[in-house]
Amino acid sequence: MATDISRSARITPKSKFVRHTKVPTQIFETSSDLAKFVASVVADLVRKKNEQNIPAVLGLPTGSTPLGVYRELIRMHNEEGLDFSNVITFNLDEYWPMDPDSIHSYHKFMHENFFDHVNVKQENIHIPRGDIAAEDVDIFCEEYERLIESYGGLDLQLLGIGRSGHIGFNEPGSARNSLTRLVNLDPITRRDAASGFFGEDNVPHHAITMGVGSILSAKKIIIMALGEHKASVVKRAAEMEVTDEVSASFLQTHANSLFAVDSAAAAELTAVKTPWIVGNIEWNSQLEKKAVIWLSNEVGKPLLKLETDDFLHNHLHQLIHKYGSVAQIRQRVFDGLLEGICTRPAGTEPQRVIVFSPHPDDDVISMGGTLITLADQGHEVYIAYMTSGNIAVFDHDALRHLDFVHEFHKLFHADDTKVLSHIEALKESIASKNAGDLDNAEMLGIKGLIRKTEATAGAQAAGVPEEHLRFLDLPFYNTGQVSKKPIGEDDIAIVADLLREVRPHQIYVAGDLSDPHGTHRVCAEAVINAVDVVKSEEITPEFWMYRGAWEEYEPHEIERAVPLSPEVVLRKREAIFKHESQKDSAFYPGSDKREFWVRAEDRTRNTAKIYNQLGLPEYFAIEAFKQYHGEL
Ligand code: F6R
Repeated sequence: MATDISRSARITPKSKFVRHTKVPTQIFETSSDLAKFVASVVADLVRKKNEQNIPAVLGLPTGSTPLGVYRELIRMHNEEGLDFSNVITFNLDEYWPMDPDSIHSYHKFMHENFFDHVNVKQENIHIPRGDIAAEDVDIFCEEYERLIESYGGLDLQLLGIGRSGHIGFNEPGSARNSLTRLVNLDPITRRDAASGFFGEDNVPHHAITMGVGSILSAKKIIIMALGEHKASVVKRAAEMEVTDEVSASFLQTHANSLFAVDSAAAAELTAVKTPWIVGNIEWNSQLEKKAVIWLSNEVGKPLLKLETDDFLHNHLHQLIHKYGSVAQIRQRVFDGLLEGICTRPAGTEPQRVIVFSPHPDDDVISMGGTLITLADQGHEVYIAYMTSGNIAVFDHDALRHLDFVHEFHKLFHADDTKVLSHIEALKESIASKNAGDLDNAEMLGIKGLIRKTEATAGAQAAGVPEEHLRFLDLPFYNTGQVSKKPIGEDDIAIVADLLREVRPHQIYVAGDLSDPHGTHRVCAEAVINAVDVVKSEEITPEFWMYRGAWEEYEPHEIERAVPLSPEVVLRKREAIFKHESQKDSAFYPGSDKREFWVRAEDRTRNTAKIYNQLGLPEYFAIEAFKQYHGEL
């Protein structure tokens, strides 16, 4: 469907237009390319309406996805004079009940992230109110609809998409013609919001949202999705059947809508995951590897047993044409995987290695076996904990540690009344905290200490001595909130100094696309930039990436597979156990309820199983790595 939005998207650089979806879809290389594109669509509309001297009416979302768009619009306002004085805005939704002044309110979010930085007039801003009485909600919602209509409807609606498939807060079961109303939030949505509220129990159960019908009345719609945790819902919405189980799928019935996604969120689309199914493609070795591994899984045969018919019957005849026979191609993929299996990840000569751990447990959770192997093999291993991880510690853990210090002082410094009363005051501040309140700097410091001591114990269990641990405490992280600052020069300088100090031969970085809070991504950017800074000083380490606690690389992405013995897996488990504050029910478990050590073991055992099914040697468990080739 060639709509005006999809036409403008097609010519956007650093992006690719996908034909085979039912909602036209544009895939952007990075989230910032996507943000620039969407901001430019908004800016074009605002300028056009300003020239005609009529208001542009915008429908706006909150959440993590549109933040880059708001940042870019603010930049355009400041640097290019983009004028919002004639813009009318309607926000999609607000939690209910919710005080507009609460740090959790979408009122606060919109003012902090957008409205306070541009010249939108206060009277032109409309956001559903979370502080109205239950008996007034229906009238308020009808009035909201009337108000949108009074401006001639929305010119452009921007949307995010929830993992429940929601747009706005139209959870599964919302009707196509639903209007603004009070709704119950889906358990998935509440879980996803838990981190922002410091615990799922604090997330409201209700919200006021524009309906699917209200959204579909907009003249143009751009729905955005970032990150691989959105990949499966993007596929359901963009290319499967229209169903009220996935509200976003109703966009397939809108004449002028566009899905704008980054490459991680696009990963499950047929044209991306199995492009050979949808047409002729330009083969390269990476795609060939992906296709042959896919085929092996599809027909349930190990690589070296694949036959010509398997290729012919599964859309891969193009590969036979290219290579003349299947023998060569299956051998090539098999040999590549075999060569990637590596029991001496830093070689035979003693090397200096830095493992960068975004939070103080990613090192052992995601590559603890390799860490143990490297230390056992006599390499000089350093671990750089990039952030304190202080916001992920429960109050009850802080309280227990304060109790310990209290008892300790009573035991050894009974007369130190100053310290004792300080501890009492800290305990009191926890007791008087309301659900969802932010911690003060002192409490964050205590929580950071808890994680620091756990990390030290975890590293020692993995064989890395305390003097090789560096706690970088990168400034971008220190907001005391879930949302973090973007990467800054000071973050990069701290990492560059560490690279200068250690002059590593090899580094390991969490190259993560799916960390729910973006911290891993920022940490990876800090290292990438710092490596760039020090390369002129002849510091050019081998750069390996591992996945954080949430996902594993796909088999075709893996360039190095480090086999783990049962004993190493057990030692890794012991190291993970040292992170007591993250055990049982971690603060930020993401969508997966399993404990981190269980996830780590399932994941490494699963990779070993996949390798074995491909016809490669049978290992107990495997940790996977990919080399950094210029993109995450
Ligand atoms: C926000 C909203 C929601 C979000 C969706 C995705 O106003 O209506 O539909 O767009 O939950 O949230 P993020 O962007 O945080 O993943």
